[in-house]
Amino acid sequence: MGIIRIITGDITRLAVDAIVNAANSTLRGGGGVDGAIHRAGGPDLKDACRPLGGCPTGEARITPGFRLPAPWVIHTVGPVWRGGKAGEPGLLRGCYEQAFALARAHGVRTIAFPAISTGVYGYPKEAAARIALGVMRRERDAFAEVIACCFSAEDAAIYRALCPECVLGDEEGA
Ligand code: APR
Repeated sequence: MGIIRIITGDITRLAVDAIVNAANSTLRGGGGVDGAIHRAGGPDLKDACRPLGGCPTGEARITPGFRLPAPWVIHTVGPVWRGGKAGEPGLLRGCYEQAFALARAHGVRTIAFPAISTGVYGYPKEAAARIALGVMRRERDAFAEVIACCFSAEDAAIYRALCPECVLGDEEGA
């Protein structure tokens, strides 16, 4: 059964098979983790996104990682939080599910996710983490390692509280 690992760090530095980008529907880059991934991936990453013609909210697209240590980037567009009654939970779940589907289709064995939609898009962190972990638990058997890459200790603590069985940081896998 694949490990779910909770770490705190910069997803652009992870030498995993695929990192997931919290993009916007234009796939032209932006701030937050999107900006960090495009800065690290280099101009070829933006060139690879252009012919994709964007990505609807709740869906995902895959490109090479170019200058990133990860050979693949899975770009997904999370919902903007509008109070929770505009289909946000289903759209966010779709981001994780579609990212995992693309990962499986490309033979990915280790994958890292940021906390999609919980930054600029304002999704409440705990509610988002519950959705993320719910999909990760369903998908983990098809992977060697699924990483929740948190950008702050506060975010990692939210995941840790919701996932006592998860491996923390650099601990050996369970
Ligand atoms: N590594 C890992 N996580 C990161 C990094 C990084 N280098 N940089 C930011 N994060 C975290 C944020 O702290 C947050 O927890 O990624 C999570 C998602 O936040 P955002 O990047 O703001 O993404 P999101 O809330 O999904 O909003 C997407 O922001 O950058 C724009 O183009 C993007 O329009 C899109 C919107």
